[in-house]
Amino acid sequence: MNNGNTHHQPQILVTGGLGFIGSHTVVELQNEGYEVFIIDNLSNSNLDVLKGIYNITGIKPKFFQFDLLDKEKTHQFFNQHRINGVIHFAASKAVGESVEKPLKYYENNIGSLVNVLQGMLDNNCNHFIFSSSCTVYGQADTLPITESAPLKPAESPYGNTKKISEEILLDATRSSELKAIALRYFNPIGAHPSAEIGELPLGVPNNLIPYVTQTAAGIRTQLSVFGNDYPTPDGTAIRDYIHVVDLAKAHIAALKRLLNHENKSQLEIFNVGTGMGSSVLEVIQAFEKATHMKLNYQLVGRRAGDITAAYADTSLVHKELGWKTEKSLEDALLDAWNWQLKQK
Ligand code: UFG
Repeated sequence: MNNGNTHHQPQILVTGGLGFIGSHTVVELQNEGYEVFIIDNLSNSNLDVLKGIYNITGIKPKFFQFDLLDKEKTHQFFNQHRINGVIHFAASKAVGESVEKPLKYYENNIGSLVNVLQGMLDNNCNHFIFSSSCTVYGQADTLPITESAPLKPAESPYGNTKKISEEILLDATRSSELKAIALRYFNPIGAHPSAEIGELPLGVPNNLIPYVTQTAAGIRTQLSVFGNDYPTPDGTAIRDYIHVVDLAKAHIAALKRLLNHENKSQLEIFNVGTGMGSSVLEVIQAFEKATHMKLNYQLVGRRAGDITAAYADTSLVHKELGWKTEKSLEDALLDAWNWQLKQK
């Protein structure tokens, strides 16, 4: 292990650890015995998430509230703690907002990545897991999507920050001891089965599943299904929806690979999805079946920037990380619903 830190469990920094995917990953890390440090600026989360994590695992993660754009504080953090690995979630993620405020996205997502990597390299911390996205593939020419599918021009500044971040990682790993794994997520949904933590959309949700659960809860009157003229069997768009707990576990598998020096190159990239595509109408049907409720929805026009279909080829991640999903779409929708029921 790094840093001669042999008497303790590895110490893992989770940036954005109070966010949707971050908080679920913190829980899985604690379940595996890692000591977790969280840095989060609360820009899209709140302190109740710490309590949710504690209610599940009985362990309080060490929490540091500051912005990773603060270079001095970021370096100070790495100077003061012996961190063995970093899982970097902290980023802005609203696709539509990124079109309105591109510079915010470039500054936040690229600036914080650079600061974290510099803080790591200056302190001999060499293991890094990055949150990337299947958005880098755009509309792929062949499905399912393998990691060697060509990258397409980004549809949004948000998507572009993911592409640029992967390029930064490639350059940084070539020129240093840094070892990194970028996980290209498909569509993360669901919540912890305990309903202690879940997704917290600000205002009117942009993503399908929060909109579905808020409609079922009566917060929204009607779900709009964006487009029924896509070249798919039922005309609605197809995505690969992955339960957030399964996704969290992929990070643990990636981290172990780096800590055990099992990586085959300095930067590895894996798709993280279920391998199964579901149309919007299939999601609605699965939700109705899982919850025994009727959902009020209408078919409307396409949403700008949306692709027709994306789902992962998961053979590489399965072979190399020994990871695959364990939960079904119905599990994810039921957990999302139970989480929705707990919100005020
Ligand atoms: N949809 C609706 N009605 C809604 C919301 C969404 O019909 O109210 C449809 C969309 O048109 C799309 C599907 O549901 O066909 C999924 O939409 P989401 O917004 O939930 O997810 P996206 O696939 O558009 O975006 C997600 C992430 C992005 C990421 C992208 C990568 O939210 O961060 O995947 O493809 F960039």
